[in-house]
Amino acid sequence: MKKTTLHLHSRFVVDVVDPRVFGGFLEHLGRAVYEGVYEPTSKHADEHGCRTDVLEALKRLRFTAMRYPGGNFVSGYHWQDAVGPKKDRPQTLDLAWQSIETNQFGPNEFLELSKRMDWTPMMAVNLGTGTPEEARNWLEYCNNTAGTKYADLRVEHGYKDPFDVKLWCLGNEMDGPWQIGHVPAETYAINAQQTARMMKMVDPNIELVVCGSCAINLPTYLEWDRKVLEHCKDDVEFISVHRYVENPEHDTENFLAVTNSIDEQIEAMDSVCTSVHHTKKTKRKVKISFDEWNVWYRARTPEHLDGRGKIAPHLLEEVYNLEDALIAAGFLNSFIRHADSVKIANIAQIVNVIAPLLTRGDELVYQTIFYPIEMMAKRRDGVSLQVQVEGSEYKSKDYGVVKTLDTSAIFSGKELSVFMVNRDLTQPLEVTIDLADQAISKLLNAEIVHGSDPNAANTFETPNRITAKDFDEVCIKDGKAVVKLPPLSFCAATFSLE
Ligand code: AHR
Repeated sequence: MKKTTLHLHSRFVVDVVDPRVFGGFLEHLGRAVYEGVYEPTSKHADEHGCRTDVLEALKRLRFTAMRYPGGNFVSGYHWQDAVGPKKDRPQTLDLAWQSIETNQFGPNEFLELSKRMDWTPMMAVNLGTGTPEEARNWLEYCNNTAGTKYADLRVEHGYKDPFDVKLWCLGNEMDGPWQIGHVPAETYAINAQQTARMMKMVDPNIELVVCGSCAINLPTYLEWDRKVLEHCKDDVEFISVHRYVENPEHDTENFLAVTNSIDEQIEAMDSVCTSVHHTKKTKRKVKISFDEWNVWYRARTPEHLDGRGKIAPHLLEEVYNLEDALIAAGFLNSFIRHADSVKIANIAQIVNVIAPLLTRGDELVYQTIFYPIEMMAKRRDGVSLQVQVEGSEYKSKDYGVVKTLDTSAIFSGKELSVFMVNRDLTQPLEVTIDLADQAISKLLNAEIVHGSDPNAANTFETPNRITAKDFDEVCIKDGKAVVKLPPLSFCAATFSLE
């Protein structure tokens, strides 16, 4: 059997794992909002019109930062269309996805939902067709106590107390030529800086995310980031990174090695942040908000991208399989390994649109990627430990040499959780976990997602082909844990220490 050893030490800490790394993203796109979280006509609707079946499932994922309302959508969005009495809200034409937006669910409904779900709202302002002033007005509406124009408007709309939204994004993917209002880096940087300054005059306690490179294959990759940071370095706390990965050639072994490239993307952005911090002599370094990540390539044809004048059309409804679930674990492993630089990360998205959940009428299916996210979110509290992996590896077609095991570890003082993907398609892998300075005394719990077919998916007809199951192929010997991972598997295991 192939073998691997993980070498850890409880004092070799990367950093605290910021809970906001377990964030989500809800965009007015396709059926994410309407027929996703909000469907007053569903038999599952609560008194707010939200779907309880969807919300119960989302609760299991313990989401923290929830990004809203877009995405590409936000670059043509005017928040005032979507607040106030529902009957007075206009239907608007969304240019990003060519859909009709009814505005029956707007920012206030989202903020109320966030409270009920214990989400940290992460609002994006429109820097495509919007102005710095529109952004600052929205912040006043959300965060100020009554007595000024926009705060009073909020009170008039029925919300006496401020929402106190502390996390804001300065637009979305402004480096992307497809983005409404896309401009060169220098132009965006000046606009973002002015917006940031006005917003912080309204509320100095907010944190801001400036748009970084949204794809590694754009010609402006990293140059955009340097230029934007040189302007905005002292005005923002985070720069965004986005990544969608794909397997168009159905080469599972190669696809599972993409974590090398995700690591590189984080490290490249972090080095731009470090460089600007030193060359511009700033007081603090800007950190990373990896605020869109997922597998997305099947639902990318024109009919998946164009709403053609419809309300809540079926867009970006990617169906996920086992290999995608292993990739989801790989993204989260990478964020945990880089806990010192990645402070926020949001899976794109949460329901129907490239999401762990799919609805059909009143039915709901849990996609494969749901399970690794749940398994890791349960065990997210603690510090990330450096992991030295010794053992089996392979050479991938596009991403160089990778270890057969993709892994990360979180230490909470009393417990150690280890996350392990066996990328081998056919062979089991024996993993020895060696925490150098402490003895592992007991397996507290372990779960596994695995299968022999990387293409196995959950559908409405076969909803439970891939789920998380309890796992006990673990033994403790001489203070070390030995785990026997089946091929194509993801295991999350938690141990107590002596
Ligand atoms: O998440 C889907 C889309 O992907 C978002 O709207 C956009 O920001 C990205 O290109």
